[in-house]
Amino acid sequence: GREWTEIGALVDELSGRSVLVRGVAQTIRPVSKKMAFVVLRQYVSTVQCILSVDKEFVSPQMVKFATALSKESIVDVEGIVSVPKEPIKGTTQQVEIQIRKIYCVNRAVSLLPINVEDAARSEADIQKAEFAGEQFSRVGQDTRLNYRVLDIRTPANQAIFRIQCHVEDVFRRFLRSEGFVGIHTPKLIAGSSEGGAAVFKLDYKGQPACLAQSPQLHKQMVICGGFGRVFEVGPVFRAEDSYTHRHLCEFVGLDVEMEIKEHYFEVCDIVDRLFVAMFDDLNENCKTELSAINRQYPFEPLKYLRKTLKLTFEEGIKMLQDAGVEVDPLGDLNTEVERKLGQLVREKYDTDFYILCRYPLAVRPFYTMPCYDDPKYSNSFDVFIRGEEIISGAQRVHLPELLTTRAEACGIDVKTISSYIDSFRYGAPPHGGFGVGLERVVMLFCALNNIRKTSLFPRDPQRLAP
Ligand code: 4AD
Repeated sequence: GREWTEIGALVDELSGRSVLVRGVAQTIRPVSKKMAFVVLRQYVSTVQCILSVDKEFVSPQMVKFATALSKESIVDVEGIVSVPKEPIKGTTQQVEIQIRKIYCVNRAVSLLPINVEDAARSEADIQKAEFAGEQFSRVGQDTRLNYRVLDIRTPANQAIFRIQCHVEDVFRRFLRSEGFVGIHTPKLIAGSSEGGAAVFKLDYKGQPACLAQSPQLHKQMVICGGFGRVFEVGPVFRAEDSYTHRHLCEFVGLDVEMEIKEHYFEVCDIVDRLFVAMFDDLNENCKTELSAINRQYPFEPLKYLRKTLKLTFEEGIKMLQDAGVEVDPLGDLNTEVERKLGQLVREKYDTDFYILCRYPLAVRPFYTMPCYDDPKYSNSFDVFIRGEEIISGAQRVHLPELLTTRAEACGIDVKTISSYIDSFRYGAPPHGGFGVGLERVVMLFCALNNIRKTSLFPRDPQRLAP
């Protein structure tokens, strides 16, 4: 085969060399009958290619052919890399290609439902263009999601899903290096795993069943089965009925469960080291992706400490009260209050990432271990990025009698979870764990305003397609 160069690898050092690249025709700009510009895009990168009639390689017919290409067609170009005197505006690569050969591999229809270049504009670009009276279309979220195949071609979207892959990769690598075993638990289960109404019910060969709301019960059963430390990456289903910027009906859960030797802070310690390692890794190894996102959705880099800040719920309540926010000291925090606390924490401790522990027992699921010293509280925690929750975790009740009482107190039909409760009768170690929403991590690390931006094909209360 011939040697292909990726568009992102086109740099000064290749100047004068002949290269072969495949890309998508992003813009085609005729200058005259003898000259045209074609911008090719691949992943997060773009390069300008120049077609200029000469005696040897380029005929006027070629220029005519190129100017007739439709946007978003797949195009191969062979040509010589050159470095222009002026910096190039509007492309990521600072070299050009002087085209010698150009082929259209597959044509796109000429009338596209989304103009990808328009979809890639930042709000600042849009305002500038509007001010200048330029003709273009603002691409709304529903249109983007309806034609997601085109929408995910934008460099920012290409970058978002590469970062998502990276997050998942660091999660696995870090946990493997700490002795965790990757597992897969069933997604078709008999009862609801998190309680509450947000569960998809279905018919399992005549028997009522649910789509798993989390791997919670089964990951704990694997701990009862002697695995010590486990993790899972898999789909999580929630029949959410509210339409918000941070809830999906299907998301990817990153779950962890582990034996605890002395204190549930051992679980917080894994959260601390895992996420500091993850943020470091993203900042170090995803620079191109982060700047592609920044071009369309400018954001401030995440502030995080070398050792993650851990506050108690009571301390959080005090900070809020001191700032004049009215809160129930034993109730849950709503989104707005969580954001406010995030701001207060940032002002005081200079971090966008922190752990809030020792939640009131009443606001946690039935399987959460009450505090030994004060059963009004629990050995549990949530973790926040920029004032929004990305993780919830806790020590679990490993004593079958207490577990039964707690389930009943929370209105759960213990018959539906009897094999789960029985698992704790055969010698179960103290344990704890946490669940992370992958889409939320990416959304909040990059300060994006909507979780639909970090799900390839989002499922929300109003959307089941594409
Ligand atoms: O807080 P949640 O519901 O906790 C659990 O599922 C527990 N079983 C976790 C544990 O091990 N104790 O969900 C965990 C995380 C949340 O912090 C959030 O990041 C994400 O999953 N999440 C959602 N993400 C997108 N859409 C939704 N509807 C989500 N619900 C929760």
